[in-house]
Amino acid sequence: MKIEPFDAVDVIRTKRDGGAVPEPALRWLVDAYTRGFVSDAQMASFAMAVFLRGMVRDEIRVLTDAMISSGERMSFASLGKKTVDKHSTGGVGDKITLPLAPLVASFGVAVPQLSGRGLGHTGGTLDKLESIAGWRAGLSNEEMFAQLAGDVGAVICAAGSGLAPADKKLYALRDVTATVDCIPLIASSIMSKKIAEGTDALVLDGKFGSGAFMKDEDQARELARTMVELGTDSGVATTALLTNMNVPLGLAIGNANEVRESVEVLAGGGPADVRELTVALAREMLALAGQPDADVERALDDGRAMDSWRRMIKAQGGDPDAPLPVAPETHTVTATVAGTVTRMEALPLGVAAWRLGAGRARAEDEVVFSAGIDLHVKPGAVVAVGDPLFTLSATEPARFDRAIEALDGAYAIEQAVDGVAAVVHTGGPLVLERITAQG
Ligand code: URA
Repeated sequence: MKIEPFDAVDVIRTKRDGGAVPEPALRWLVDAYTRGFVSDAQMASFAMAVFLRGMVRDEIRVLTDAMISSGERMSFASLGKKTVDKHSTGGVGDKITLPLAPLVASFGVAVPQLSGRGLGHTGGTLDKLESIAGWRAGLSNEEMFAQLAGDVGAVICAAGSGLAPADKKLYALRDVTATVDCIPLIASSIMSKKIAEGTDALVLDGKFGSGAFMKDEDQARELARTMVELGTDSGVATTALLTNMNVPLGLAIGNANEVRESVEVLAGGGPADVRELTVALAREMLALAGQPDADVERALDDGRAMDSWRRMIKAQGGDPDAPLPVAPETHTVTATVAGTVTRMEALPLGVAAWRLGAGRARAEDEVVFSAGIDLHVKPGAVVAVGDPLFTLSATEPARFDRAIEALDGAYAIEQAVDGVAAVVHTGGPLVLERITAQG
């Protein structure tokens, strides 16, 4: 029998009492948990102790590195071009990866975008793309390399099970033990996968607000800073934008409808906020790849980004010209008072779309590609009684009641009082600040 060098109970106790776990003990814990020697109950206690007591920077670095070491490490060095990835901490209507990856690839940079599926109210990039007939999320490492090396240059696909298996196990455990929303655990979880992926550079979209993991701006800033430090310390050029997720991004929330909106952006149109964030993140990615002056707006307007999208979709078996699924049932919510839309909360709209079938409650559930919500207005719009606010789409009308329940209190329409206009709450600018390793 293997003699274990540490005792899980001691490690848990150290963290429970607010101490820093020494590097060899932390590395052992992650390894022993991955091997099945440390039990789920012990690891859940450790995660809760971290949730309550936090971790110092060096512990977060070691935890991340231990999770990377639990699996394979990819390398794109043989590609002969720069690789840049982007990661968003997730939000409602966040389809930015779809236009962003082909846009950046149209400048000759390789974009290896390993993405996930949606769980709960935040959508998943792979679910959205699977609404395109024939499109395939599962690629072998060889297929991924070939796509990045050739004239496509961008890949959006599922991460193989070989990357950071310790995180896969721990994340599933955190999901059922109320230990997800914890900065050291989120930062190490996300960055272990991104660093193991082997990208040269990474741009983080750190979201704050009602539809984000981090509701609070300061916490989102701390999470983004922690991730930027982890990336930089591991030799991945990493920066972050802190962005507003109080209001949904764009007008579409769902899967097929978000693809439709992304294609509008790739055609030089689309909602202003989706275009603004796509452009801001593309500039950031291209700056890290050595092209700080790239004219990304032009690439959206002159068709280069669209050509790149079509190549990327076709390379993964998809038909970019195939009609996207449309739901058989719709229900439009209209304004019952006249005035200005002063508030529209991302979280309840995300929950409503999820209840319509756009998201999944359990990892094994199927999503309904055509289900979702199309917004007709955003905060600041002036509406009359009867004007459409949202159109809900589903495959069964029975889904509408629970979705509408989620919308209760999700928005407000107010009138001017004594000639003073109603105050519109959007939670501030879309891109609040840029975070780099230098501060
Ligand atoms: N996404 C991840 O991959 N890990 C987390 O902990 C949270 C979001």
